[in-house]
Amino acid sequence: MTGTGTVSTGGRRHGRHGLLRMAGALVAAAAITAGAATVAVGQGDPIAERKALFKQMGAALREPGKMLKGEATFDLAAVKAALETVATSSAKLPALFPDGSDTGDTAALAKAWEDRADFNARFVNLSKDARAALASVTDAESFRTVMPKLLGQCGACHKIYRKPS
Ligand code: HEC
Repeated sequence: MTGTGTVSTGGRRHGRHGLLRMAGALVAAAAITAGAATVAVGQGDPIAERKALFKQMGAALREPGKMLKGEATFDLAAVKAALETVATSSAKLPALFPDGSDTGDTAALAKAWEDRADFNARFVNLSKDARAALASVTDAESFRTVMPKLLGQCGACHKIYRKPS
């Protein structure tokens, strides 16, 4: 912390301004990042919005997927970041399958609306399990135990509710 005495020199004063400017820039950058993280949610196109969230989850899980296969070294921080993305994104997904969004540029099957309770519960469970994994994954070993079950939830739902590509 700079004491009041050090502010009297011109150089210091300049330095403090520089710091303030930098802090401002950081806040602005953080705001932009936060905006980008929410992608298009809330802009009235649920099909595009849900696809963006699915893509985000897929992208976040790419590295952990490689770690599981032994193609990348285990990185706890990266795994936790991915789990956070899955927990947050999947919690938003039930709201992005409103009535009427079963037609158009979508691979979702009509069954998603017919078996709504089961469909929604899968997102809720995925979010809950990703949150739990944030606590239970502490090293490579627990990662290998917990992660495959979590990833299995993606494929299990796709098998029932998504058109095969
Ligand atoms: C409760 C069911 C469900 C779960 C759980 C689920 N998905 Fe999906 N996913 C879908 C449906 C339905 C679609 C098709 C969405 C559409 O086209 O409107 C989809 C589409 C996708 C897509 C393609 C998006 C695009 O651009 O068209 C990706 C990637 C994806 N999911 C990844 C994942 C990953 C990764 C997980 C697990 C972390 C996951 N999904 C979990 C139901 C699910």
